[in-house]
Amino acid sequence: MKDETKEVSMDGTERKGTSRRGFLTTTLAAGGALAGAGLARAQGAPDPLITEVQSWAQGWGDGVDATPYGLPIHYESDVVRRNVSWLTADAISSINFTPIHALDGTITPQGCAFERHHSGAIELSKADYRLMINGLVDTPLVFTYEDLERFPRVTRTFFLECAANTGMEWAGAQLNGAQFTHGMIHNMEYTGVPLRTLLEEAGVKPEGKWIYVEGADASSNGRSIPLEKAMDDCLVAFKANGEALRKEHGYPVRLVVPGWEGNMWVKWLRRVEVGDQPWESREETSKYTDTLEDGTSRKWTWVMDAKSVITSPSPQSPIKHGPGPLVITGLAWSGRGSIARVDVSLDGGKTWKEARLAAPGQDKALTRFYFDHVWDGSEMLLQSRAIDSTGYVQPTKTELRAFRGVNSIYHNNCIQTWWVKASGEAENVEVS
Ligand code: MTE
Ligand code: CO
Repeated sequence: MKDETKEVSMDGTERKGTSRRGFLTTTLAAGGALAGAGLARAQGAPDPLITEVQSWAQGWGDGVDATPYGLPIHYESDVVRRNVSWLTADAISSINFTPIHALDGTITPQGCAFERHHSGAIELSKADYRLMINGLVDTPLVFTYEDLERFPRVTRTFFLECAANTGMEWAGAQLNGAQFTHGMIHNMEYTGVPLRTLLEEAGVKPEGKWIYVEGADASSNGRSIPLEKAMDDCLVAFKANGEALRKEHGYPVRLVVPGWEGNMWVKWLRRVEVGDQPWESREETSKYTDTLEDGTSRKWTWVMDAKSVITSPSPQSPIKHGPGPLVITGLAWSGRGSIARVDVSLDGGKTWKEARLAAPGQDKALTRFYFDHVWDGSEMLLQSRAIDSTGYVQPTKTELRAFRGVNSIYHNNCIQTWWVKASGEAENVEVS
């Protein structure tokens, strides 16, 4: 029997094909399916959380000044940075990892954004802060913190990825959790002065082609950066996510080098020297190269290529419910532009479906993606694949190894696979 009517919806468009009755039946059927899958519980034993007045409704809550600067509620105490103790000899020159498996959206709260220090996080006050610009400039300058605050400033969101992120995974699937395989990344909204403005204030001489940037910590973390990049989009930042930088992220001032390796984002920035060539002898250049299969090394591989990872489900974020609706979500980013598309595979890369981006990809910033799935309860080989605004497609592990071998540490941007079992638990694996 044909049951076709015309309906005019609120926005005035005509909907053909379903009568009100037909619509109701479908909705109810879908509702029933969701209830069956555990999304809604209308029947069964009375739930005391609904029927009884609970203890928290029988007295007062905390007054407004209980925590002048709030921390996450204690129920969330496992959402913290973690390290891998065997990776480094001590915690001073070490790294920890952002709990990306437990976060959503794109902004990383500073309190759980990974840290990487070569000689520990130092305490430097705004009063003691100085930034010097010298070398091939018309007027060498020294800025105080207050000086920096008087230049026109900008606010922009960027990801910072350590070049070593995913570096333990070259030879095989090793660390069991997105936090550990992909957590050397964070994404913050920075406020600061374009480095270009300060360099123009000092006046770069025509021979100036490079800058050398260093921090006030014992390691100084000195790096050479082409002047072109310095004049393009680098920021001398003093705020992150609206508030002062945390000590561990470079308080009071850090350099932001959008899309480039995290090691160039000098914390506790104290000096910018302009020169006509890179200062290779001053740097740990041997550390930041990518050794290829034939023994030769790539150097100056500053840009972070497009990459993505499913953050949930993942080993630290297993599926805790049975078959039915399942939100698959993750992060994608590219140092060469914005994320144009993310695909998700449930079968280890044999077939792909397009994921939904939470918001259009932003230049050199994290993009959140969702894939709304109805899980049949069978095991999956979950993968995500990022495609950026240059058309670059994130490579498989096999493709990347064919070009890069397995001797590198840095720049592993391959597709990650999580084996999700029927139990809902997930494991870090490789597919051939
Ligand atoms: N800057 C200074 N002064 N000292 C450092 O040890 N580590 C670098 C970079 N800038 C470092 C530094 C490295 S290797 C990385 S990945 C990033 O800072 C990490 O920044 P974060 O600690 O804010 O995550
Ligand atoms: Co690093």
